[in-house]
Amino acid sequence: MLKMNWKLHFLTASVAHAALRFGCSTVSVQRLDPLVEPGANPSSHVHQIVGGNAFAPTMKGDIGEQANCTTCVYTEDFSNYWTAVMYFRHENGSYKRVPQYPNAQLGHNDTNIKGGMTIYYTEKDFSSDGDQYITGFAPGFRMTVGSPTVNNKTNGTNPGLAYTCLQSILTRGSETPDFPKKPCPAGIMAIHHFPACWDGKNLDSPDHQSHMFSTTRGHFLEAGPCPASHPVRVPQVAYETMWNTTAFADMWPSDGSQPFVWSFMGNGYGTHADYLFGWKGDSLQRAINDTCMFHGCGSPGVQGVLKTQTVEEMNKCEARTAVEEDVDGWLDELPGMNMGGVV
Ligand SMILES: *[C@@H]1O[C@H](CO)[C@@H](O)[C@H](O)[C@H]1NC(C)=O
Ligand SMILES: *[C@@H]1O[C@H](CO)[C@@H](O)[C@H](O)[C@H]1NC(C)=O
Ligand SMILES: *[C@@H]1O[C@H](CO)[C@@H](O)[C@H](O)[C@H]1NC(C)=O
Ligand SMILES: *[C@@H]1O[C@H](CO)[C@@H](O)[C@H](O)[C@H]1NC(C)=O
Ligand SMILES: *[C@@H]1O[C@H](CO)[C@@H](O)[C@H](O)[C@H]1NC(C)=O
Ligand SMILES: *[C@@H]1O[C@H](CO)[C@@H](O)[C@H](O)[C@H]1NC(C)=O
Ligand SMILES: *[C@@H]1O[C@H](CO)[C@@H](O)[C@H](O)[C@H]1NC(C)=O
Repeated sequence: MLKMNWKLHFLTASVAHAALRFGCSTVSVQRLDPLVEPGANPSSHVHQIVGGNAFAPTMKGDIGEQANCTTCVYTEDFSNYWTAVMYFRHENGSYKRVPQYPNAQLGHNDTNIKGGMTIYYTEKDFSSDGDQYITGFAPGFRMTVGSPTVNNKTNGTNPGLAYTCLQSILTRGSETPDFPKKPCPAGIMAIHHFPACWDGKNLDSPDHQSHMFSTTRGHFLEAGPCPASHPVRVPQVAYETMWNTTAFADMWPSDGSQPFVWSFMGNGYGTHADYLFGWKGDSLQRAINDTCMFHGCGSPGVQGVLKTQTVEEMNKCEARTAVEEDVDGWLDELPGMNMGGVV
C-alpha cells in the first residue's frame, strides 16, 4: 500500500511540502539504546534523549500509540531522538557532563525549554519548502547516522555531521567535522543530518543504516537526487544540539588541547545520532503535505496544521529512568567506560 502510494505521487505530483523546525526539551539522560542495543540495561554509553515518554530499553511496534506525553512542541510527535552526551575532561582526570541549552529562535518562551534539541524535517534547503512528493515514515521505522568507531578524518567526512563553534547563541554557518580546536565563547553546536533516501521496503536494517542512503551536502543545502536503490524521498531529518561549554571556560587545559569528549570516550569524528519514528497516526504525513514552514506549521501561541503544547507542558514530560547511576556529577570515569572499552 505504502509503495503504491509513493509510486503514484513520484510520477504525478509536483506540489509544495512543509518544512518543520521545532524544539523538544530533554525527556531523559541515561544509558539506554533501544535501537543499537535493544534490551541492554544499561547500554554501553550515556545518551541524551528527547521526544515521547515511551523511551525504554526495548521499543517495538507503533510508538505513536505507546507514549502518553512528549517533550516536543508538537503533541502528536512521540518519536525519540537521541545522541551521545558531551563531557568535559578536566586536566585532573575527572569528567563533567556539559549542559544543553535551547535554540534561541524557536518562538515564544524558547529560553524556558529544558535542555533538549532542535529537530528539523525539511526537503529543500533552509529557507524554502520543496516540490517533490515526500513520503512520511511508517510505524516501526528507525535509523542511525554516524558511528562511534570513526575516530579520524579518513572516514569521518560525512557532510551531514558537523560542529559549529558558537561565538554567540546565534552563530551559524561555519562548520567543522571535529570538535572546534579553540574555546567557543557560547558553546558548541552539534549537527546531525540523517539520510533522506529510503529503499521503500525496510523499516530497519542490520546496521540500521543500509535501508537508507544519504545525498546530503550538509549546511541545509538542497540534497542531490535519490539513487535507484533507495528511490523514496523521505523527510530530511536533522538535529541541532547546543552544548553550553561556558562553565568550563576557566578550566581549559594548560597545554591548550581540546577538552571535550563524547560519552563513548570518542572524539568529534565519532559523532552519531539515532531516530525512532513515533508520530501518531498520519500526523507527520498530514503536516508534510501542507505548505507551511517552521513557526507557520504551529508553535506555542501560533495556530498551524499541527497541534502544539506550551513549554511548561513540554518540560513536564519525562521518560522512566531504567538505569540508576550518576551521569551528572564530577565523575572519575565515564559511565560504562570502566570495563576497558570503547564500544
Ligand atoms: C500511558 O498510560 C497508560 C494508562 O495509564 C499506562 O498503562 C502506560 O504505561 C503509560 N505509558 C507510558 C509510556 O507511560
Ligand atoms: C577535578 O576538578 C574538579 C573541579 O574543580 C573537582 O570538582 C574534582 O573533584 C577534581 N577531581 C579530582 C580527581 O581531583
Ligand atoms: C573507519 O576506518 C577504520 C580503518 O579503516 C575502520 O576500521 C572502521 O571500521 C571505519 N569506520 C567506519 C564507520 O567506517
Ligand atoms: C584512522 O583510523 C583508523 C582506525 O580507525 C586507522 O587505521 C588509521 O590509521 C587512522 N588514520 C589516521 C590518518 O589517523
Ligand atoms: C550557559 O552556562 C552559563 C554558565 O553555567 C550560564 O550562566 C548561562 O546562563 C548558560 N546559557 C544559556 C543560554 O543557558
Ligand atoms: C498527502 O497527500 C497525498 C497526495 O495528495 C494524499 O494522497 C494523501 O492522502 C495525503 N495524506 C494525508 C495524511 O493528508
Ligand atoms: C509563556 O510563559 C508564560 C509564563 O510562564 C505563560 O503565561 C504563557 O502562556 C506562555 N506563552 C506561551 C505561548 O506558551
